[in-house]
Amino acid sequence: MILIKNGSIIRDNELVKRDILIDGDIIAKIAPSIEANVETIDATGCLVMPGAVDVHVHFREPGFEKKETIYTGSRAAAKGGVTTVMPMPNLNPCPDNVEAIELQKKIIDKDSIVRAFPYASVSVGEGDEKLSDIDNFHQMVTAITDDGRGVNNIELLKEAMRLAKKYDLVIASHAEDLVDGYKPQGEYVAVRREVELAKEIGCKYHFCHMSTKESFEAIRKAQQEGYTNITCEVAPHHLILNETMIKDANWKMNPPLRSEENRLETIKALLDGTACMVASDHAPHTEEEKSREYDKCPNGILGVETMLPIIYTYFVRTKKISLDRFLDIMVNNPCKVFKLPKHSISVASVADIAILDIEHEHTYTKEEIVSKGKNSPYIGMSFYGFPKYTLVNGQIVYKQ
Ligand code: DOR
Ligand code: ZN
Repeated sequence: MILIKNGSIIRDNELVKRDILIDGDIIAKIAPSIEANVETIDATGCLVMPGAVDVHVHFREPGFEKKETIYTGSRAAAKGGVTTVMPMPNLNPCPDNVEAIELQKKIIDKDSIVRAFPYASVSVGEGDEKLSDIDNFHQMVTAITDDGRGVNNIELLKEAMRLAKKYDLVIASHAEDLVDGYKPQGEYVAVRREVELAKEIGCKYHFCHMSTKESFEAIRKAQQEGYTNITCEVAPHHLILNETMIKDANWKMNPPLRSEENRLETIKALLDGTACMVASDHAPHTEEEKSREYDKCPNGILGVETMLPIIYTYFVRTKKISLDRFLDIMVNNPCKVFKLPKHSISVASVADIAILDIEHEHTYTKEEIVSKGKNSPYIGMSFYGFPKYTLVNGQIVYKQ
């Protein structure tokens, strides 16, 4: 049994002081004061919340273990208060068939300290030519994506959409038109095209890391027309950074940091509900890769350790986002859209919990990074809300 004492939980949009008793893997009791002679966590000055759900992480295994592994990536997630992740399929072997998905799941079972629900790919090897073996693996995953590159083969995408509809899978789209690439129109041209297809076919269609005004306009319009099957996520970096701040390769990712206007539109989309969740796009690379010339180094920045502190600091602490909405965008909506097991701070819920220090500002350092990658633009920046403890299934998986 574990007792979490003197923390605050969110109830009806307010912070209230509650003690929480965990018995095995579940929350057994919540009360203003609990006394018990068991292992006790002091949560004074902390927000005790359900662990965050990050539907967009690159954990690189199998295939790219120099950048990250499921072992290190899951520990980075735990440090960030993230208790459920969805690892992306730009891997080797690519999870485009039953065997490759099984291989990845075996590594997850062995090494992951957080819950991990991997994506399968839409096309074989994310090659945009031949459909993955969706008929055979559809029960093994909840979503498919060719993240890292867009699907530009429209016939293939339509067939994937029909199968996604048939099997109730989500397609997560890294919407990028190959003609315009990283430019804003590279994103929104693909979004406009895919919104129309998703309306026509009616499968669950989720846009990853949206970052331009026009993309949000297209998605917002479809949602206003009643297409609740169309959803999107935004990433912390597009909410708090813009292209004028780029210093070096640790600020390089795809989609890239954009204009201040697009940053403000990204915030607007999160505030008005067009984007129903935040996801990190945690994308570690080796220090050697990121020390190459800017144009030659790979896209991607770390994200899973800093996502909760960033959203807490910029949006919750400033009261731009309510406490209830914070829970929705970090926990409830990702679970709902991707049909993941639910958890909350309530009796009988599984004890997946993040305990955030919301009273102290902390300056993020390179030394504290748990991920194998060190490519973070946030080194030297200060945030509130870094986790003091993280629990998964009633077990402490991170302690500051
Ligand atoms: O910045 C990015 N990094 N964007 C992507 O789409 C892929 C990712 C990666 O795999 O490194
Ligand atoms: Zn992506």
